[in-house]
Amino acid sequence: MYPKPTFPDHFADGAGQWEVHLPDLTATQALGESIGNIAKPGLVVALVGELGAGKTSLVQGLAKGLGVPDPGQVTSPTFTLLMEHHGRLPLYHADGYRLKNPWEWVDLGGDEALASGGVICIEWPDKLGQFLPEKHLRISLIHAGCGGRQATLQWHN
Ligand SMILES: Nc1ncnc2c1ncn2[C@@H]1O[C@H](COP(=O)(O)OP(=O)(O)OP(=O)(O)O)[C@@H](O)[C@H]1O
Ligand SMILES: [Mg+2]
Repeated sequence: MYPKPTFPDHFADGAGQWEVHLPDLTATQALGESIGNIAKPGLVVALVGELGAGKTSLVQGLAKGLGVPDPGQVTSPTFTLLMEHHGRLPLYHADGYRLKNPWEWVDLGGDEALASGGVICIEWPDKLGQFLPEKHLRISLIHAGCGGRQATLQWHN
C-alpha cells in the first residue's frame, strides 16, 4: 500500500502548483475525493489530459468527497456534455470534447451552471474558449511509467 494522495491544506487557498504521482485508479479517485471534501461554492476544476488520462475517474472521487450518493453514476458526459449531480453542493460535470465552438457551451446552459454556486468540473476545458472562468484549478493528467499517472495541479487566477 502507498499513502493516498490528499490535497494539501496549504494549497487549498488558491495559489501555487503541486505535483503528485497517481499509481492507480484508486489514487486518482482519492485525489478527487480530497478535493471534494474541501471544495467551496463556485470552484471550477479544469481537467486536462488526453483520452483515457483519468479525468472522469478524478471527478468520480470528487463526487464522493462532495457526498454525491452514488458517485458511480459519474460517467463520461461525452454525449450529454453537461451533467448535474447532487451532493452537499451541486456538482456539474461537463465534457467539452465535442463542442463545435464556445457558444455551444452557452446554449447548453454552461453559463448558468457556472453562476450556480456549485462545483464545476470540465473535461477538455480549452474548448470553452472565452467562457472558461479565469479563476480555476487546472489539473493536468499525463501517463507516467508503470501504467500510473502524473497529476499537476495549478491555480489560475
Ligand atoms: N492513476 C491511474 N493509473 C492507472 N489507470 C488509471 C489511473 N487513473 C485512472 N485510470 C484508468 O484510466 C482509464 C480512463 O479513465 P477515465 O475514463 O477517467 O479517463 P478520461 O480522461 O476521462 O478519458 P476521456 O478523455 O475518454 O473522457 C480507466 O480505465 C481508469 O481506470
Ligand atoms: Mg472522461
